[in-house]
Amino acid sequence: MPEEGAEHAEYISIPREFISPDSVTGAHLYVHVGGRYVLYRSGHEPIDAEALAKLKSRSINSLYVLAEQRNQLEEYVVKHLRSVIASATDSAQASRVIRDATRAVLRSTLGNIDTIDDFERLRGVSDVLTDKIANSQSLLSGVVRFAEGDERLLTHAANVAAYSVVLASRIPGLSSDELSSIGVGALVHDTGLSTVDPELLYKPDEERTDLERYFLGRHPGRGAAQLEQAGVDDPIVLDIVRHHHGVADGEQLSLPAQVVQLADVFDSLTSQSRQGAPNGPFAALYDMRHRANGRFSPELIREFVLTLGSMTEVVADSPVAPLSRRRVRANASAA
Ligand SMILES: [Fe+2]
Ligand SMILES: [Fe+2]
Repeated sequence: MPEEGAEHAEYISIPREFISPDSVTGAHLYVHVGGRYVLYRSGHEPIDAEALAKLKSRSINSLYVLAEQRNQLEEYVVKHLRSVIASATDSAQASRVIRDATRAVLRSTLGNIDTIDDFERLRGVSDVLTDKIANSQSLLSGVVRFAEGDERLLTHAANVAAYSVVLASRIPGLSSDELSSIGVGALVHDTGLSTVDPELLYKPDEERTDLERYFLGRHPGRGAAQLEQAGVDDPIVLDIVRHHHGVADGEQLSLPAQVVQLADVFDSLTSQSRQGAPNGPFAALYDMRHRANGRFSPELIREFVLTLGSMTEVVADSPVAPLSRRRVRANASAA
């Protein structure tokens, strides 16, 4: 039994909504009260609906798990994600659950895909994204966020996966297995960057040396090799990772890689904070359509525009939201 309130331990928080009534998390759950972490339930004890309602009535919205039990927690989150989303009372709550779960799994997986089990946890997330977002596009705007700060790479991966599954689901003829692989390929597309020192990763490009640029430019091949070493053999995933920045002259970029490449560039443009404010969605699409020298197929861009345009709910700080006054001002001053 873990000690109550172990002061120096590291804890990770999980939203209360992640806990399904009567399920067993496998990880000890703590609550944070009076400045201390207090054991609430051991990992093999279920929490019933009444107990969850009680937590809600006391405004306890987060529970905590010891960082060393992160794996158990993530397995639980992926396993129960569908029922948690199903129990969401509205699409804002459902999209928040999807977003938080995607981030929770990516946070420990990116840069740490050493075995096929690590990879399969991401496939679980991709399957949920494919099932839920692709069939309910109004969730997309609640799932994607501007990629800023320390977790830029993680947010970017989650955003690119969300855009990719929604776009891919509009393309006729792709099977559900292919959609799942596109989603997971998008989640890990930049895995070759995840072990790069953040100082180099977030350094303005003009301050990088040629050697640093060369090293960063090799991340697609490095990422694919890392995955192969972990036992990943899904050809769609490996193709996406290896070719998301393009193929050699004379070679044809596959459709899955085109989808992820388009989502990747759109997210980079709309989240770009290195040179100031990000582009709005319309400016980004315009740029991609008119200045990319045919890099993107007009048909695919048209589908992407229709994807974004079909969203019925728009969350204020989503990259696909209309520009807020604050962002309009920021864009104007950065121009
Ligand atoms: Fe990349
Ligand atoms: Fe990327």
